[in-house]
Amino acid sequence: MFTKVILVIVSYLLGSIPSALIVGKLWKGVDVRKHGSGNLGATNVLRVLGWGPAILVAIMDVGKGILAVYLAQTFLRNDYLFILLCIIAAVIGHSFPIFAGFKGGRSVGVSFGILFYLFPKSSIIIFVIAIIIAAITQYKSVASITCAIIYPFLLYSIEKPPVEYLTGVILVCIFIIYRHIPNVKRLIKGEEHKISWKIKK
Ligand code: G3P
Repeated sequence: MFTKVILVIVSYLLGSIPSALIVGKLWKGVDVRKHGSGNLGATNVLRVLGWGPAILVAIMDVGKGILAVYLAQTFLRNDYLFILLCIIAAVIGHSFPIFAGFKGGRSVGVSFGILFYLFPKSSIIIFVIAIIIAAITQYKSVASITCAIIYPFLLYSIEKPPVEYLTGVILVCIFIIYRHIPNVKRLIKGEEHKISWKIKK
């Protein structure tokens, strides 16, 4: 039991690593929380600092998700309940990071890392869908919300995962939608930030 609880805590701490804050400060000397949407995520880093830092943040956020679920699966084997708790802890850690005053991002990157590790086929498909929606609408938030709605259905039809994992995926997707409530409010008011595709120097 002790190991299981430690793994849940480690997952939360991994999710809490504020990649956007670290990259923004070390690479460009900028606190991205004070700019754009204020989110600690790759989308806001792209908006504020450009493609290089954004790609690095995306890799780090996806990577910490992969690491959290890898550790959980390696040590917990078939204990789906605790693997599920580790997944949820990592996702919550990204949104409410202990290392950044509990104000993080929308948990899309870290969730993608977890899902990509567990279900690569459906995750690559949803990634392509996200890019298409973002390109058409110019809003990353619309792509994230739409994909969070579609993903459980896509996953179920393609990979038929164990019910515990499907439940976990549904919870993660609901959490991501919940985290986008401020974006939805901005979209309704016509104030949502568009994606900036331009290369910044
Ligand atoms: O992945 C996060 C994205 O959906 C929204 O980010 O910074 O536009 O609120 P942001």
